Amino acid sequence: MLSKELLLQAVKEYGTPLYVYDGDEVVQRYKELYDFIKWPKLKIHYAMKANYNFELLKLLNAQNASLDTVSPGDVMLALKAGFSTDRIIYTANNMTDAEVKMVYDMGVLMNIGSLSRLEKFGRDYPGSDVCLRFNPDVVDGAHAKIMTGGDLTKFGILLKDVDKVKAIVAKYNLNVIGLHEHTGSGLQHTESVLQSMRNLMAIATPENFPNLRFLDFGGGFKVPYQPDEERVDYVKMGNDITELFSAYCKKYGKELEMYFEPGKYIVAEAGYLLTEVNTIKVNNSRAIAGCNSGFPQLIRPIMYDAYHHIVNLSNPDGELNVYDICGNICETGDRFAEQREIPEIREGDVLAIENAGAYCYSMGGYYNLRPMPAEVLAVGGKLKLARKALSYEELIAQTMGV
Ligand code: LLP
Repeated sequence: MLSKELLLQAVKEYGTPLYVYDGDEVVQRYKELYDFIKWPKLKIHYAMKANYNFELLKLLNAQNASLDTVSPGDVMLALKAGFSTDRIIYTANNMTDAEVKMVYDMGVLMNIGSLSRLEKFGRDYPGSDVCLRFNPDVVDGAHAKIMTGGDLTKFGILLKDVDKVKAIVAKYNLNVIGLHEHTGSGLQHTESVLQSMRNLMAIATPENFPNLRFLDFGGGFKVPYQPDEERVDYVKMGNDITELFSAYCKKYGKELEMYFEPGKYIVAEAGYLLTEVNTIKVNNSRAIAGCNSGFPQLIRPIMYDAYHHIVNLSNPDGELNVYDICGNICETGDRFAEQREIPEIREGDVLAIENAGAYCYSMGGYYNLRPMPAEVLAVGGKLKLARKALSYEELIAQTMGV
C-alpha cells in the first residue's frame, strides 16, 4: 500500500491524471503465491494482459517469473523485457494463421482452444509440441462478462471432444505436453478452482495424453475490491490445490509441473489512478465531482459495474458527503462511482482510485481524443517515470496516421 504522502508527491512531480504502481507489492504478491501453493514444480505465469507496463514486466522478469501472453505484441514486448521463450505460453483465441506463424517462429509454446485451430496447426506444424485448452465446464467469475467456463462462452475445447482431439493429434503426430483451463476472473468460490482442476485432470490421463509435462489451471484468483471485503484464505486453498494435484500426479505416474496464470492477484491492488477534481456542482439531488480523467482511462466501473474504492487524498478528514464521481467524457455512464460516501470533495482535490493495477491502463483508449495518463513506478519509496504520457501533438500525429 502506497502512503498518501508518496501519492501526493507523485502528483507534484508528474501531475494528473496519473497511474502509480507499487512495484514492491507486485513482487510480494508474485512471490507469496509460491508460499500458498507448495508444489515443488509450480510455475506462475503472470497474465500480462492485466498490465503490460514495461517496468513492471522487468521487475517480474528479475524474479524469473513466467508469462501468459495473448497477442504477438505481448510476446514481442515480453522478449524485450528479457523473458526467455521457455517461460512464455501463448493463449490467444481466434488466432489467425499469420499470428500463429509469428508466435511459433519466435519459439513460444502455443495453447490451442479449438478443434479447427488444432487441425490447422497440425497441418502447418506437424510433429510440434503443443498445449491444449479445454473448457472446464465450471461457471464462476466476478461478472457475467468475465466468466470463462461453461456453455455460453467461446473458450476452450469441450471436455467431451477429447476423442476428436486425439484423432487430430495422431493424424499430425503432435506432442501434447500440456493441458490448460481457465475458469474466469475474480472467482467467487475457491471450490470452482478445485472443480475445474478435477474436470481437467479427469481427461489428463496417460491413456489420452502420455507425454504431459504440465497442467495449467489458468488465473482468476480474487482480490478484495470493497474495503470491507475479506481476503480469500489462500493458505487453505493452496493446500487443497497441492493435495489434489499430488494425488493426480501419483495416478498419472509422474510429477508434473503445475501452472497458474494470475493477473489481478499480482497487480490489481498495487495500482492507483490519481485524478484531480475540477468541477463541483449540484444537480438537484445529486452532488457531482467532475474529474480530469474518464472511462477510456479506467473502464471497469462502466464496463463491469466494478467497485473501485476512492480516497480523497487532499481532504481525508473532511466531513462525509455523497457524490457521483464523474469523468470528463461526454457520456452519462462516465462515472467512477455513483452515490459514493467520501470526505468532502473540493475543486482542486486529488482523488486516488484504488485497485487500479489490473485491467485499467491496459484496457485504456483514446475515446474523446485525450492521451492516456503517464505511469509511475514506486520501488523502495522512490518514484520513477515508467511510461510518459503522449503529448497532444503526438496523439494527433498518431491519429492522423503520420
Ligand atoms: N488466463 C487466461 C487464459 C485468461 O483469459 C485470463 C484473463 C487470465 C489467465 C488472468 O485472469 P485474472 O487472474 O487476471 O483474473 N478485464 C476484466 C478481466 C478479464 C480477464 C481476461 N482473462 C476485468 O477487468 O475484470
